[in-house]
Amino acid sequence: MVALLLFLLHACAVCEFRFCSPKQVLPPLSLADCPPGELMEAIKCDFGSFEKMKEKIAAVSVGVQGSGWGWLGFNKESGRLNIAACPNQDPLEGTTGLTPLLGIDVCEHAYYLQYKNVRPDYVKAIWNVVNWENVAERFQAAKK
Ligand SMILES: [Fe+2]
Repeated sequence: MVALLLFLLHACAVCEFRFCSPKQVLPPLSLADCPPGELMEAIKCDFGSFEKMKEKIAAVSVGVQGSGWGWLGFNKESGRLNIAACPNQDPLEGTTGLTPLLGIDVCEHAYYLQYKNVRPDYVKAIWNVVNWENVAERFQAAKK
């Protein structure tokens, strides 16, 4: 639990996910294990299934060379969800034009204490702490 809190505080305080507040990042006591409503429908439409989206973002995130981020973003021009990776602290929107919805920090400092150098295990465990309600709120805001 301490590692989880450290991860969440790190994600908010240190890195590029600038528009988050502790209230948004710290998860509620009971997390939904899948995206709600329209976000789930968009994921199914753009990736085939929730599982396929998770596989794709995990592959992109694990594949980052060195430090960086894996992202689920929204493409306002196409109206579709996209997955992308950014090296180091490069901002998603500034480098790809995508609006960030969910970011996975794969800088080693984000996971080394708990997962050592096994980045795939860390990325796999991310799904246990994602606040899908918050991601869905970001999705709704991005569509406006
Ligand atoms: Fe980081």
